[in-house]
Amino acid sequence: DWTPDNVIADQVAAIKAQIGDARVICALSGGVDSAVAAALVQRAVGDQLTCVHVDHGLMRAGEVEQIENDFVASTGVRLIVRDEKERFLTALAGVSDPETKRKIIGREFIRVFEDAQRDIVAEAGEHGEDVKFLVQGTLYPDVVESGGGEGAANIKSHHNVGGLPDDLDFDLVEPLRTLFKDEVRAVGRELGVPEEIVSRQPFPGPGLGIRIVGEITAERLEILRRADAIAREELTRAGLDNEIWQCPVVLLADVRSVGVQGDGRTYGHPIVLRPVSSEDAMTADWTRLPYDVLSTISTRITNEVREVNRVVLDVTSKPPGTIEWE
Ligand code: XMP
Repeated sequence: DWTPDNVIADQVAAIKAQIGDARVICALSGGVDSAVAAALVQRAVGDQLTCVHVDHGLMRAGEVEQIENDFVASTGVRLIVRDEKERFLTALAGVSDPETKRKIIGREFIRVFEDAQRDIVAEAGEHGEDVKFLVQGTLYPDVVESGGGEGAANIKSHHNVGGLPDDLDFDLVEPLRTLFKDEVRAVGRELGVPEEIVSRQPFPGPGLGIRIVGEITAERLEILRRADAIAREELTRAGLDNEIWQCPVVLLADVRSVGVQGDGRTYGHPIVLRPVSSEDAMTADWTRLPYDVLSTISTRITNEVREVNRVVLDVTSKPPGTIEWE
């Protein structure tokens, strides 16, 4: 019988057999898959596991804290957070081309992870321990897709924070390889992974970096973070989280328009709301959000985020538009 309990029992036994008493590391992105994979491995081998979160500075408001507090508090997992915000901002300075941004973010992520890996291996070595396992949150659809054609990979260079190249010198531990997303969520709930993480909507590895059309700067990230937090808060308040697949919030940093705020003329930036409904993100339709919810989001963003004087709604399906703008 398929039950979360049975999956957990089977996987815990398999992980114990695979890892023995070696140490194991896991890249935690803040997403569902890596969190549930980490929680399973932790259930199996306890503090032989070390998790690493690379804070690239492209996360949304509160996300790093969510990993640090909620996830660690509920699982007791050992977590190393690498604050690499400056490194990413420097590497991305002056870049506005979407594919170039994606490649830089992917490359820097791997470098940082390799640094973290070296530190952990060195420290473990001092204690005579072996670190040769790497946890990946690979799901069944990932396994199937990577056996197939390239497809969407040709449209955008996907960078999955938590998905690392396999030339890292590790044996992989992939406890979710036979599961679909909703099964992963059920297993996560059973393991006590916080609901805020288990029920998260998809969020791209390159984060807000591909939601700023134009160059990425610390100021622009802050503007987008504030607008995004308002949109998310209002969608949750309206009970719409389960109706939408995800709702990217995009800052058109290179566009300005004239507005009037307070009693003065402004020349600010537009924010785009991109709510979509989808089964698998391969195709999508724009979600017909209630006008009053849109209105509240628009009013709040233009009142509370001084640099934004216009909020627009993306009413394009996929195809022809992709879900993310870059
Ligand atoms: P697009 O924009 O291609 O997005 O229609 C389809 C889905 O994939 C997510 N996405 C990513 N996820 N790394 C990820 O882990 C990426 O580089 C990436 N780019 C897009 C997007 O949010 C949507 O759910």
